[in-house]
Amino acid sequence: MKDQFPGPELWKRTVGDIATTLPGATAVFRKFKIDFCCGGDLTLDSAAHRRGVDPAELESALVALGARDGAGTAAAAMSNEVLIDHIQACYHEAHRHALPELMALSRKVEAVHREHAKVPAGLSEALRLLRSELEPHMAKEEAILFPAMLQWTEGKYDIPISELRHEHDDQGTTLRLLETLTDNFTVPEGACRSWQALYVGVAQLAEDLVEHIHLENNVLFPRFAAAQGRP
Ligand SMILES: [Fe+2]
Ligand SMILES: [Fe+2]
Repeated sequence: MKDQFPGPELWKRTVGDIATTLPGATAVFRKFKIDFCCGGDLTLDSAAHRRGVDPAELESALVALGARDGAGTAAAAMSNEVLIDHIQACYHEAHRHALPELMALSRKVEAVHREHAKVPAGLSEALRLLRSELEPHMAKEEAILFPAMLQWTEGKYDIPISELRHEHDDQGTTLRLLETLTDNFTVPEGACRSWQALYVGVAQLAEDLVEHIHLENNVLFPRFAAAQGRP
């Protein structure tokens, strides 16, 4: 990585490709608010332009990663089995654990601070919506998709990858609603501990979900879509 990065074609590479092959790139993209999961097909150039990011700042942040001896393992190097285990253990379980707690905490904050100008009215409902999107989606991946991938024989299974990608887009839309309702997870001055804990928790959930969708859309799914000869 040290010798290859950034390479002359950096700005023409897709953000999904960079996020997949450069350890730490996802954190840089999150910092610059570049969508690397549902918007992973955009070139770095287009994505930076869309976000109004300073190209020099972005490039130096990415080059700094490339020059570092990476401590993390790039997801692209994981086997299917390791990657699927990682997705289930680190993301599916984290979402299942976080969502009910955050819904309860949000209901409390919304009720106690209903007169506050910055109360995140509707946040618990948005979290409920996200949970209702994620539960059947993750169950389908665990019961149908992942087992089929682990027993993959080319041409043998018809995996509904496009359907799952659409569901990821819907989850991304709900994530943006969470960002809007919480003013990008910014607690107002003087907010109580519950309110602070709520935004820390929702920000972590959002970060986990972005990473989760990225690993599926940009790393796992393309391995099988390519074998099926379709995107
Ligand atoms: Fe998943
Ligand atoms: Fe998924």
